[in-house]
Amino acid sequence: ITAGTRGASLGPDAIVTAARKNEKSLFGDYLIEEIKDVNYLLDSPTEYKYAKRIDGLLAVYNALNDKVSTLLLNNKFPLILAADHGSAGGTIAGIKSAFPAKRLGIVWVDAHADIHTPYTTPSGNMHGMPLATALNEDNLPCKLNDLSEETIQYWEKLKQVGGIAPKANAEDIVYIAVRDTEDQENKIMDRLQIKNYPVAELRTKGISVIMNEIETKLSDCDIIYVSFDVDSMDPEMTSHGTGTPVKNGISPEEANEILISFAKNKKTVCIEFVEVNPCLDEKVNKMAEVTMNLVESVLDTLND
Ligand code: ARG
Ligand code: MN
Ligand code: MN
Ligand code: MN
Repeated sequence: ITAGTRGASLGPDAIVTAARKNEKSLFGDYLIEEIKDVNYLLDSPTEYKYAKRIDGLLAVYNALNDKVSTLLLNNKFPLILAADHGSAGGTIAGIKSAFPAKRLGIVWVDAHADIHTPYTTPSGNMHGMPLATALNEDNLPCKLNDLSEETIQYWEKLKQVGGIAPKANAEDIVYIAVRDTEDQENKIMDRLQIKNYPVAELRTKGISVIMNEIETKLSDCDIIYVSFDVDSMDPEMTSHGTGTPVKNGISPEEANEILISFAKNKKTVCIEFVEVNPCLDEKVNKMAEVTMNLVESVLDTLND
């Protein structure tokens, strides 16, 4: 619940429910590891208005750092179903903890850039900030908010989870389908020269061409993490079952093609799905159904 609206914590269960309803085992023989519900930590109204529930999120980051790094060191491929995007910085910490010497590429499939900081956020919602924690960025040139000393301390701790900061270079980040950003984010993307592939470019060039371009761009990276926010997809073709839907996104078929391509890529070490919110779904669990199908095809591909 580091999104503005509650309900994404039910997303992973909604995906599993969609699988059962369709009589799919989904995870079959796969090992399922659960990080216990930490919503109680995130329950009370926050005193940190530019970093809501940052205290609880720090615990989530630490839990993910432990779990993800342990799985990777045991030669497992973490396929993560998370709630909102706030926790993805914890996943990245876990990957970096497992492979401190490896250069990490990040593919961020999302309508949003999620590179705000408590200094620049318009909403105070932490799900808009995970990439800034990975890059160890404050974006002070775009400072908007005056933070309390406690907020600053939590923010510094968040960026340091796993003990390595930054965890990735800006040049090793690729956005796909980002189309709803604030000015502070546009400025940091410009300053750090972060590459985005808009939806229109995916369509004119074709996904396989773009996938090749990304492979070339990330050729100096040893490992790749793919973060898939379901709001990258078009609400008309899915539903509004996500906290911050944005029109003109990619189709579920395009998402599938992108995800399969990364699942086939031997450098990919972790794929994460986030932001399914069944409470907001006007089509009765449609977003979870769409996501379930994507998860299934990723699992099939990983298995081949
Ligand atoms: N940029 C907006 C904010 O910071 C929206 C972020 C949406 N992020 C997401 N993971 N859905 O509040
Ligand atoms: Mn996101
Ligand atoms: Mn998003
Ligand atoms: Mn907006």
